[in-house]
Amino acid sequence: MSKNGSNTRLPRAKGIDMAAYYAAKECTRKVKRMVLPPRNRQIVEEFIAILGMKEKFERHDVPIPNKVVMFGPPGTGKTLTAFYMASRLELPLILVRLDAIIHSHLGETASNVRKIFEYAKASPCVLFLDEFDAIARTRENNDEVKEMARVVNTLLQCLDEFEGDSIFMAATNLEAELDNAIWRRFDTKMTYSLPDQARREQYISLMLGDFEHEDGVREQASARLTGCSYADMEQIILKAKRKAIIEDSLLREQHIDEAMAEYQPKIG
Ligand SMILES: Nc1ncnc2c1ncn2[C@@H]1O[C@H](COP(=O)(O)OP(=O)(O)OP(=O)(O)O)[C@@H](O)[C@H]1O
Ligand SMILES: [Mg+2]
Repeated sequence: MSKNGSNTRLPRAKGIDMAAYYAAKECTRKVKRMVLPPRNRQIVEEFIAILGMKEKFERHDVPIPNKVVMFGPPGTGKTLTAFYMASRLELPLILVRLDAIIHSHLGETASNVRKIFEYAKASPCVLFLDEFDAIARTRENNDEVKEMARVVNTLLQCLDEFEGDSIFMAATNLEAELDNAIWRRFDTKMTYSLPDQARREQYISLMLGDFEHEDGVREQASARLTGCSYADMEQIILKAKRKAIIEDSLLREQHIDEAMAEYQPKIG
């Protein structure tokens, strides 16, 4: 695939044209309205706490975690968590463009993988690889078995040699497709799921902010949006807000209903 693929508007990381660069401050801005369910919050907090106690861990000869894999359905906050991690660690986020890494000549894919890991070795960052399954597919599942195994082997090697102050994060919707040997390399695993009623209410509150709304809209909307991802909810609430603004009215349940009918979220 072309190195000058679709994401040309993304900021480029210096010295590596396969990734976008986000300064820590930008990452902080992006995560203002994030809902991190308690279990994942605990995992992230523990991860960050450990990084702040490096010497203590060295004294005990216990390795520091630095590889996180996130899995779960689309629009549930995996990419957002990578931004959050960068923000909390005050590191830049390097978002790898998969279309730029995967090359029709697989030898080049392997060398691209090596390059991005070399970059992270030289400059502390959160290195984030989205749609990770695309390069870390189980060897059995792949048509071009032998060729792809070379990429997977490179990846294994890079993960084994990954050290220093950078963090590696990967996300996938298809954890079953990941190569087992790769899976084992991650010291930290986080599962994402669609929001339940309580999480939906929490997110809708964040989305509503100080936007004027009728009493009960939050509860009604969170019941109405059952089965939606956070990304769906975001689009629907924004649409509903636009309707309210046009009408110069409070946000009402009807706006949510209309927005939902127009947006047609894929539920199930
Ligand atoms: N947990 C969350 N809290 C707040 N907003 C969220 C959350 N999850 C998703 N969103 C909203 O949906 C958008 C998409 O989220 P994100 O990119 O993190 O999803 P994802 O899990 O990485 O999805 P995909 O599997 O499609 O890459 C975000 O920009 C954000 O606005
Ligand atoms: Mg994502």
